[in-house]
Amino acid sequence: MTDPTDSLAALPRERTWLLPALRAAQHGERWLSPDTLDRIAAHLRVPKSEVWGVASHYPELRLTRPGRRIVRVCTGVSCRVLGGRELLTACEQRLGVRAGQTAADGAVTLEELDCAFACSVAPVVEVDHAIRGRVTTGDLASLLSAPGHHEVPRPIVAALGPAVSGSPMQRLATLVREAKRRGTGTRLAVGVGSCSVAVGAGDTFTALREEVARRKLPLTVIAAGCNGMCWAAPAVTVLREGAAPVVVGPVAAAEVPRLLDAVSSGAGDGLRDVGRDAMGPQHRVLLERCGVVDADDIADALRHGAYAALAQALDGGAPERVIEEVRTAGLTGRGGAYFQTAVKWAGCRAAAGAPKYIVMNGEEGEPGIFKDRHLMEGDPHRLLEAVLLAAYAVGASRGVLYIHGEAELSAERVAAALAQARRSGLVGEQILGSDFSLEVEIRRGLGGFVLGEETALLESIEGRRAMPRTRPPFPVEAGLWGKPTVINNVETLFAVPSIVARGGAWFAGLGGGRGTKLFGLSGHVRRPGIVEMELGCTLRTLIDAVGGGSSTGRPIFAMVVGGPSGSVVNPRHFDEPLIPRGPVNPGTGGVVALDEGASVRDVVGTLLAFNTRESCGKCTPCREGTARLLAMLEAPVDQASVRQLSEVIQLASLCGLGQAAPFAVLSGLAEFPREFGV
Ligand SMILES: Cc1cc2nc3c(=O)[nH]c(=O)nc-3n(C[C@H](O)[C@H](O)[C@H](O)COP(=O)(O)O)c2cc1C
Ligand code: SF4
Ligand code: FES
Repeated sequence: MTDPTDSLAALPRERTWLLPALRAAQHGERWLSPDTLDRIAAHLRVPKSEVWGVASHYPELRLTRPGRRIVRVCTGVSCRVLGGRELLTACEQRLGVRAGQTAADGAVTLEELDCAFACSVAPVVEVDHAIRGRVTTGDLASLLSAPGHHEVPRPIVAALGPAVSGSPMQRLATLVREAKRRGTGTRLAVGVGSCSVAVGAGDTFTALREEVARRKLPLTVIAAGCNGMCWAAPAVTVLREGAAPVVVGPVAAAEVPRLLDAVSSGAGDGLRDVGRDAMGPQHRVLLERCGVVDADDIADALRHGAYAALAQALDGGAPERVIEEVRTAGLTGRGGAYFQTAVKWAGCRAAAGAPKYIVMNGEEGEPGIFKDRHLMEGDPHRLLEAVLLAAYAVGASRGVLYIHGEAELSAERVAAALAQARRSGLVGEQILGSDFSLEVEIRRGLGGFVLGEETALLESIEGRRAMPRTRPPFPVEAGLWGKPTVINNVETLFAVPSIVARGGAWFAGLGGGRGTKLFGLSGHVRRPGIVEMELGCTLRTLIDAVGGGSSTGRPIFAMVVGGPSGSVVNPRHFDEPLIPRGPVNPGTGGVVALDEGASVRDVVGTLLAFNTRESCGKCTPCREGTARLLAMLEAPVDQASVRQLSEVIQLASLCGLGQAAPFAVLSGLAEFPREFGV
């Protein structure tokens, strides 16, 4: 166990380091004692009352000592429709403790989770921070007695030194040449991401490496991110030079010898490409390298074209040209609001003040969606390239990569990529020998849905509670520390390198001028996972052509689209195009299928209860109104009163949480009145 005072002493004595200090202290001690809070207050010179106020605000922080083991059972929508509540009850019985309590002997704490962000392998149970997916009650005996540990392979990768002369394009070409000198031949890419690790991908990777070494096969085994086919996880993609990739899965560790027999013979059942059907309707731009590229190796990223758009932009001159391409592309914010990215960028570029900041929003705290983690884990160098392009375009000299506090694999892979990019002269001073410089740091969240709201996120970086700011001023004029700031969602940024490389018009040619969008499929579909579609696709396509139809044989009765800020969609809208602000709004892209056995009323109640808990309390209509709305659902429903209160909450709330909180109730009542007895 690390001494929390050591990590505290290493932090500068400024309030901005309050969240990192709290996080590090909890990491060392497992909770935050009053003494620890006092020490942090003294070191950072922040009043004790404010340190306590911040610490008590963030859900990931513990102000009471937990049990020696911490078991958390997910009862979010995707998990509860697949048995999450039954698992919780079984855990209560087995551990002899109710949810939310610690056993009298301090052996264990049992808690409910709103979402573990591995919805595609639901239902999920987490033991001592290790997530396990597709859990049945029969698994609990071994799961709860084994140490909560996952093998997440992190191979050590050789760095690539910077190129020291020439234009940006020439320097990049030197790096790519060196990258190509390393690693060729047939490669076996194991999808190692949060979802797949939860169903054994780490064990498959280790078994494959060991067996390849034992047989002395001329094959390279790499830990890629996931290809989005969580239903086939653990999946292995066979990458032969000059041949199309072949996805094989699920491959449990015990099945590795059979897979290698098939790979060695070059034929056989073991190499059936399971991905072909599910990939058919997709258009993969952002995901093109996920599941294929080694997520820990800059050389592999360079071989696959990383940083080419950056070098092209730096060689091509004016930053305004990048903004113009993004404008032509029609790119809009994938954080859910679909605001024009180019408008935001041009506003920041034109704003007075220095330094300017680019902030990547990788908070992703909305139950039911896990796409940003997928991208960060799968292709971290594309993310860095995108942040560099955005910073170059808006004139930012500082970048903050903000990553959810529990998205460990995302943070580890992005941190490794950042270190490699620095070594290669792609981040820091005079990038690729140009006049453009960018200092980049990683910050981690501490939980809470509202933390993802852009101004709440800025507050947290400054060391305060995550409470949204009133606007104007907007962040592009006065954001982080009052300086011009652009905040973009991970998925929005991911589109930028392709837009710069292939031109904005090319991107606008997809999805009827709206481009592509990631969706997280879960619930009662046969093929849950992350998929990329052109915007304007329908739920019917997502359910049937991509998702493989109902997993239970019973018809899909409703779809929850957009999580707690979204709505419940009736099958009569399944053929409507998914278009921002259209009849079916895709929101952030969380899509949960419910079959006839699921209760829409229970699902709506779950979503509203989440919003009620997550309200930061700053404004009365959201704080009080959501709680009263929830109480109304528990009694016989009076439609008129529900609508009236909903309208007040929507109109009078300060931020999107309150403004969108009643959507699920209103759509449920309108589309499934019988479920509410009206
Ligand atoms: C309650 C709430 C939670 C949000 N959570 C996120 C989030 O986790 N990630 C994100 O990118 N945007 C989130 N947003 C949207 C952000 O406020 C902001 O619009 C977005 O980060 C801007 O980036 P974009 O224009 O690229 O979408 C949230 C908004 C609200 C109201
Ligand atoms: S709408 Fe809700 S979450 Fe947003 S600021 Fe108001 S109280 Fe906080
Ligand atoms: S992991 Fe359970 S709802 Fe997301």
